[in-house]
Amino acid sequence: MDGLSRRNVLLAGGGALGAFGALGVAGPAWAWSASGSVAGSGAGADPRWVWDEEADPLVASLLERGDVPKVNKLLRTWTRNGQALPDGLPPDVRGFIEKARRLPPWTDRSKLDTMVEVTRAKGFWINTLYGVASGLMSPAIPREAIAVYYSKGGADMKDRIAKTSLLGADITQLNAYEPEGRMIVSSVKTRLVHAAVRHLLPQSPQWAQSGSGQIPISQNEMMVTWHSLPTTVMRKIRDWKITMAPAHSDAFLHLWQIAGHMLGIRDEYIPATWAAAETQAQQVLDPVMGPTREGVELTELIMKIVSDVDGGLSRPLLNALIRYVNGDEVAGWIGLPREPFWDPVVRDGFPRFVALREKLVPLPLVPRIAWTIDEILRKATLVLLGSGRPISIEMPTANRPS
Ligand code: HEM
Repeated sequence: MDGLSRRNVLLAGGGALGAFGALGVAGPAWAWSASGSVAGSGAGADPRWVWDEEADPLVASLLERGDVPKVNKLLRTWTRNGQALPDGLPPDVRGFIEKARRLPPWTDRSKLDTMVEVTRAKGFWINTLYGVASGLMSPAIPREAIAVYYSKGGADMKDRIAKTSLLGADITQLNAYEPEGRMIVSSVKTRLVHAAVRHLLPQSPQWAQSGSGQIPISQNEMMVTWHSLPTTVMRKIRDWKITMAPAHSDAFLHLWQIAGHMLGIRDEYIPATWAAAETQAQQVLDPVMGPTREGVELTELIMKIVSDVDGGLSRPLLNALIRYVNGDEVAGWIGLPREPFWDPVVRDGFPRFVALREKLVPLPLVPRIAWTIDEILRKATLVLLGSGRPISIEMPTANRPS
């Protein structure tokens, strides 16, 4: 099936979503044990029915009393972790942020320090995978794709990519959680945005028609998306046999454990080890992935934005690369066309590219395709992870206009 007809099939009649049934949150009982979490224990509440009990009522109240634009404006000047909050914030917002900005007591500074070495050694792979693996997985996570599509940001994907990539840029900084870094600020702001989305989306008629039903962005969904980031990156690093010292993979996990906490995920749901993460991902991420009409449209927009860097010339190669990285099944779900020329070339060339990057072959013997893949991945990553432009993460006050 060529790309266009595949896309049409997905677009027809509400997409393949119908085959999936309603996008509710039914499923087997929650079975992941909190003994594998950073908390070590927990009440065992099913995270599909837990949201953010501190941020949600606060932001609902801000929306109802019309304070969101004022708070967004004031928070534009709050950009560094160590910076004092601006004057004039409503006391309930100030109280929430002062608490939410505190790093968890289990923060291990030495692991964060190790990230300097990790970034030096494996930063290329980590960044590339955030962009071309994690970034293109979200359209294949139905509840996330639908939430993104019908929220305000869904109407302007360029802006949304820039904002989401801001968090990617912030977590990549060597001082992410230091007073001069920005990751705490971006995480807390994102927590506020998610709380706004939980209040607003259920009011959207289109979102309701999508069959989503349940209030979005539960703790379970947060973990689904979390796994599309670090767990997916680690899975690929393992698949491609890229060596990573145990201390390095531990540090990378720790970076994301803290991110999860700062984004409002409860400690009892955050995996303590990679083994626990893998078990949880098999339970929460793998079974929920699939196609939606909205995910196909979002992919098309993302691919267009990325391949516009060279006037669309690299689009076929990019399609092939993203298919290779994410696999045929995901590629099908997000509506990526097959590339009869490039698909086999990339399949054959990718291990050589890994060898080039890992310096496993002497340079003169590196084939041309490996360099081509290198160049195109760099370009795509630059677009997907942004260039750290000054942009602020702000609470929406409405959904996507119909
Ligand atoms: C907004 C990251 C989980 C849906 C954002 C933003 C960031 C972000 C950085 C701000 C950018 C913007 O305003 O566009 C994350 C991370 C997650 C996560 C790191 C988990 C680890 C989720 C989940 C959903 C979701 C599970 C839905 C099921 C949204 C929506 C917006 C948003 C709808 C608002 C877009 C708008 O302004 O309309 N997220 N997110 N996110 N996120 Fe998430």
